[in-house]
Amino acid sequence: MGRGVTPKKKVAVLGAGKIGGILLQALLRDGSLSPAQTWTTVAHPERARALKDKLKVHAGTDNLEAVRDADIIFICVKPQVVVDVVREIRAHVNRNQLLISVAASVPTEMIERGLENEVPVVRAMPNTPCVLGAGMTALCKGRFAQKHHLDTAAKFFDAVGRTVIVDEKHMDAVTGLSASGPAYIYIILESLAEAGVKVGLPRDVSTLLAAQTTLGAARVVLETGDHPALLKDAVTTPAGCTIDGIMELEEGKLRVTLIKAVVKAVQRAKELAFS
Ligand SMILES: NC(=O)c1ccc[n+]([C@@H]2O[C@H](COP(=O)([O-])OP(=O)(O)OC[C@H]3O[C@@H](n4cnc5c(N)ncnc54)[C@H](OP(=O)(O)O)[C@@H]3O)[C@@H](O)[C@H]2O)c1
Repeated sequence: MGRGVTPKKKVAVLGAGKIGGILLQALLRDGSLSPAQTWTTVAHPERARALKDKLKVHAGTDNLEAVRDADIIFICVKPQVVVDVVREIRAHVNRNQLLISVAASVPTEMIERGLENEVPVVRAMPNTPCVLGAGMTALCKGRFAQKHHLDTAAKFFDAVGRTVIVDEKHMDAVTGLSASGPAYIYIILESLAEAGVKVGLPRDVSTLLAAQTTLGAARVVLETGDHPALLKDAVTTPAGCTIDGIMELEEGKLRVTLIKAVVKAVQRAKELAFS
């Protein structure tokens, strides 16, 4: 989004934990937010003090103070806490504000039900690579949000990576794929680096090879739009080395394991807010 798009607006980020903190820092760094316009909250006062010292934003534990007269409110607390926080702030939230929830599993309807007014709600599902502007965020809108609300929310997440608009019915699937996905990729990357060590490479060289290869392969998929299977075929020389490696992957059921991992995470996303 860059500088000056929401300069006069007050923005509240409730729950500056892992993802809330990443978004906050990335948006401040990019200039999408200035410290003066940004209010944030956490549960522990010492964490609030640390955030205030580090980021120079208004930070505390008082959600009501943060949302009072805020134009945009991000909800970044755990799914099980969202309804409590919404109940707490409801008297200070009105239809002129925009509420953006990044909580997994919590439907917009559940948030809307907790509020007194017909408040525009946008649900977003970002991931941790937002920290370097390489995030992936899916967005959908609730009952009272208009297209311009979705556009406003998308501008924040565009500033820290790519965005896609989906129907709300797909948000749990997004959660299991791209929000949980960095963890799966880190495990793959770590395993490739271990493999390099096993065949004699120094760990730093091995990690660099694994990470840059992961980044390069992902970029080629994104920039060519070619099917990954086609790109894999281009690496696989007949009777060469790669096909031997692929045979091991097939025998180890890498594909079906990854598919099952996403399916399980999606199932969990469906129940999290209701547990
Ligand atoms: N982590 C991810 O990759 C990711 C990706 C997409 C979406 N999400 C979603 O983001 C949400 C947060 O996840 P997380 O991983 O960032 O968890 P987290 O690190 O535990 O962050 C939660 C934050 O909420 C604060 N908090 C707790 N109760 C609060 C309250 N009543 N009022 C204000 N703040 C409160 C906590 O404060 P203290 O720090 O003082 O304990 C903490 O900073 C979840 O709903 C999750 O589904 C996470």
